[in-house]
Amino acid sequence: MRLKDKVAVVTGGGGGLGEGICRCLAREGANVAVSDISLEAARRVADVVSGMGRRATAIETDVRDDKQCRRMVEEAGDTLGGLDILVCNAGFGGYSSDRPADLPLSVENISEEEWDLTFDVNMKGVFLCNRAVIPRFKKQKSGKIINIASIGGRMPLDFLAHYDASKAGVIAFTQAVAMHMARYGVNVNAVCPGLVKTGMGRSMGIMLGRSHPVFKGMDPDTVFDKLVNNSVRKRTPQTPEDIGNAVAFLASDDASEIVGQSINVCGGMYFS
Ligand SMILES: NC(=O)c1ccc[n+]([C@@H]2O[C@H](COP(=O)([O-])OP(=O)(O)OC[C@H]3O[C@@H](n4cnc5c(N)ncnc54)[C@H](O)[C@@H]3O)[C@@H](O)[C@H]2O)c1
Repeated sequence: MRLKDKVAVVTGGGGGLGEGICRCLAREGANVAVSDISLEAARRVADVVSGMGRRATAIETDVRDDKQCRRMVEEAGDTLGGLDILVCNAGFGGYSSDRPADLPLSVENISEEEWDLTFDVNMKGVFLCNRAVIPRFKKQKSGKIINIASIGGRMPLDFLAHYDASKAGVIAFTQAVAMHMARYGVNVNAVCPGLVKTGMGRSMGIMLGRSHPVFKGMDPDTVFDKLVNNSVRKRTPQTPEDIGNAVAFLASDDASEIVGQSINVCGGMYFS
């Protein structure tokens, strides 16, 4: 119960990792505002949190929109009686599901629309949510911000240039915000997940099976298993709870001296 009676807001909370993060925060005693572009998805996870005996609310938010991000922060604070923790988890995997199957996944075939959507959700969304919460955390002289980056931000892959660049941006942005906020008693850190079989993990499997020469013709589960076997030293994928546990730790006072770090939770995919 390291987060007893704290209040957290989690963006993209209705999805795979987001649900794991909400569950782990609730397990540690936090009340949770589950925010997502899909209100239905947010409501489902808010019900899970309520079922764990915590207070919860669902907030519809598109993190690409400044007004909605500011409203999310206000509403979470008003409904749950304060705000202590922001987790920026909403993300886009880089490729639209309707792209032609015969178009190989490579830099020259990334469309401008895919580039823009990736940066709008993964980078601008993190910026807007961090910016929305900063005045509040500064005023109360406390708070925890945890941005979800990716191991791809550290070890880019040739077919994911845009996604990996956006996540490297989240790592650098996290350091800059941490430098600014440390003097106000606010800890800002990031988590870099490795491979988690969520909706995004599955979409990547589908995309690679359709359009990458090494994986072409394989079903999504086989692609995912191959990625894990080839790159994760433990030979097992991470779970949403593995990521949620790291987030809960960073949100707790046990991590009060951790500032501006990006923690790899990747079963040994990368070592720096
Ligand atoms: N799954 C992995 O292997 C993996 C690895 C590294 C990093 N990540 C990162 O973890 C985070 C969560 O990924 P996931 O695998 O759970 O993805 P997911 O696609 O399964 O879930 C993403 C959630 O974000 C929501 N969302 C999408 N666009 C949004 C927007 N504009 N505004 C608000 N919400 C929005 C979706 O509705 C969904 O609930 C992302 O930032 C992702 O980049 C995932």
